[in-house]
Amino acid sequence: MLILGLESSCDETAAAVVTGDRRVLSHRLAGQEAAHRPYGGVVPEIAARAHVEVLAPLVEAALADAGVRLADVDAVAATAGPGLIGGVMVGLVTGKALAHAAGKPLIAVNHLEGHALSPRLSDPDLAFPYLLLLVSGGHCQLLLVEGVARYRRLATTIDDAAGEAFDKTAKLLGLGFPGGPAVERAALLGDAKAVSLPRPLMGSAEPHFSFAGLKSAVARAAGHHAAEDIAASFQQAVVDCLIDRTTRALMRVEGVTALVVAGGVAANGAVRGALEALAASRGLRFVAPPSWLCTDNAAMIAWAGVERFAAGLTDPLDVAARARWPLDPGAEAVRGAGVKA
Ligand code: KG4
Ligand code: ZN
Repeated sequence: MLILGLESSCDETAAAVVTGDRRVLSHRLAGQEAAHRPYGGVVPEIAARAHVEVLAPLVEAALADAGVRLADVDAVAATAGPGLIGGVMVGLVTGKALAHAAGKPLIAVNHLEGHALSPRLSDPDLAFPYLLLLVSGGHCQLLLVEGVARYRRLATTIDDAAGEAFDKTAKLLGLGFPGGPAVERAALLGDAKAVSLPRPLMGSAEPHFSFAGLKSAVARAAGHHAAEDIAASFQQAVVDCLIDRTTRALMRVEGVTALVVAGGVAANGAVRGALEALAASRGLRFVAPPSWLCTDNAAMIAWAGVERFAAGLTDPLDVAARARWPLDPGAEAVRGAGVKA
């Protein structure tokens, strides 16, 4: 099986070719950091315009790298949401056009499902069900992954996502953009005990997350401590929250084979190390994809395409692009998460 995957939901334009037996034949990525840096964050309009310019040549390059033609692929998988809608539309329409031109099925992939299944691309032994901590720029969730297209959300954030907190902290500390890697680098030079910061929701029964209060505390500390010390203390607070909440979620699931982390923040060494220790203490396997597969990329979209195609899940050409698209539509709305209770 040969799947072409496209990704364009945020600020990375990407195309990849992946096989059913987990070979990543090619993966191309065009970041837009330079275009967004002056604004200190992703500007949706700039992102969408960049995807328009870059995506088609990137697809050609990915096919050429893989040594295949469009006619050789079994299906075209494209991110159909959630994300910045302008970018999502660019990728989805491109995917539809390619699928139509080649006479191949289209697979509309939920970007979060791309992250959720990516550990099964890097680890052939990872079986369902597993507990997934999905930590990215837009999401912070604990999910029971029961199978392809079968997700039970155990927890989500009531305000900011973990990656968003990293990005805002980097901005407050003047560490630059993108924020996560910058904070991680600064934290290596700082003292994690230097600044006393809150751990929102730590100890609460429901395993939900909250990072807004932590961000405010960082804003108050900025200027009163060395940026490296604030970065290290902030990162430790995030790690403590992630571990506490994941521990809670583990109490609520049975029969999981592994503790798994995915999404951009999973590229963080401190986060990975702490989760690995938690898994070991519970006698669970720990699985984290390599860093390049944690941050946004098209190989994970192509792989989700492989899994969905194998399950017979393809989509019609009139499938919609979605700015919001929960993996578990049945999950209860959480008070604080933009919901008035
Ligand atoms: O999954 P991703 O690439 O895009 C989304 O779907 O959101 O995640 C991007 C997020 C950003 O907030 C970025 O700052 C964060 O992941 N991130 C990191 C690291 N690398 C990326 N956060 C902490 N440490 C890192 N090394
Ligand atoms: Zn992502």
